[in-house]
Amino acid sequence: MEVVIVEDRCAGADLVADAICRLAMKGSCVLGLATGSTPEAVYDELARRAFTGRLDTSGIKAFLLDEYTGLPADHEASFTEVIRRQVVERLGLGPEAVLGPNGLASDLESEAKRYDASIAASGGVDLQLLGIGSDGHIGFNEPGSSLGSRTRIKTLNPATVSDNSRFFEGVESRVPKHVLTQGIGTILEARHLILMAWGKAKAHAVAACVEGPITSMVPASALQLHPHTTVVVDEAAAQHLRLSDLYRATYAAKPSWQRI
Ligand code: GLP
Repeated sequence: MEVVIVEDRCAGADLVADAICRLAMKGSCVLGLATGSTPEAVYDELARRAFTGRLDTSGIKAFLLDEYTGLPADHEASFTEVIRRQVVERLGLGPEAVLGPNGLASDLESEAKRYDASIAASGGVDLQLLGIGSDGHIGFNEPGSSLGSRTRIKTLNPATVSDNSRFFEGVESRVPKHVLTQGIGTILEARHLILMAWGKAKAHAVAACVEGPITSMVPASALQLHPHTTVVVDEAAAQHLRLSDLYRATYAAKPSWQRI
């Protein structure tokens, strides 16, 4: 696991956008997109680069990590709609370029299997962006999620319902209780994972993810098993990392040809 401590989220977004631009230059790439506040700075930076011709978007395809069940597709908090506004429109991607699990499917279990199969059929995800929940979740894999799980229906932790109520006018009862989420096993199949975290509210979750034991109690700790995980955090989110000096020294000594 490589840990990169950046000054602020703009510096982090720049670094992550660089990695995406390098992939996109190869002609075709499959991104894994996360929602929430964390990746917004990356999407803003990608939009700037696309606008100024520094990002070739022609070969980009993407899969969403997760989706609420039962929300109309055009509900402003549905992840399909969030990604349409933040990524699809601004990067000028075609309607088929970005796919997500259908939270309105009549048979959600079949939909989950179909979604896993469609990711595999694409050749798999090259680069998966991840945020982290304050309870250590990734996607919507809440504490207790099997580390080998596949895309499936999950029930949200009340703490996540409370965190996410800000996208539902602050009303917890409006937050769907069930979601479809890529499993931890599904996420771990992406070729490169980049987990980002900004701010002190994420500091305990980041420390548990990076330096704690691998446990389903902290779903993000499963990233320690992946051969190519990059954790990009700002100073505040890094404040509980015991080995922060080592991470800084390692990154500072990194040869310039070796990118994240
Ligand atoms: C959400 C998403 C996650 C996200 C996390 C943190 O519920 N399902 O993919 O990483 O919570 O969100 P935020 O970035 O807004 O803190």
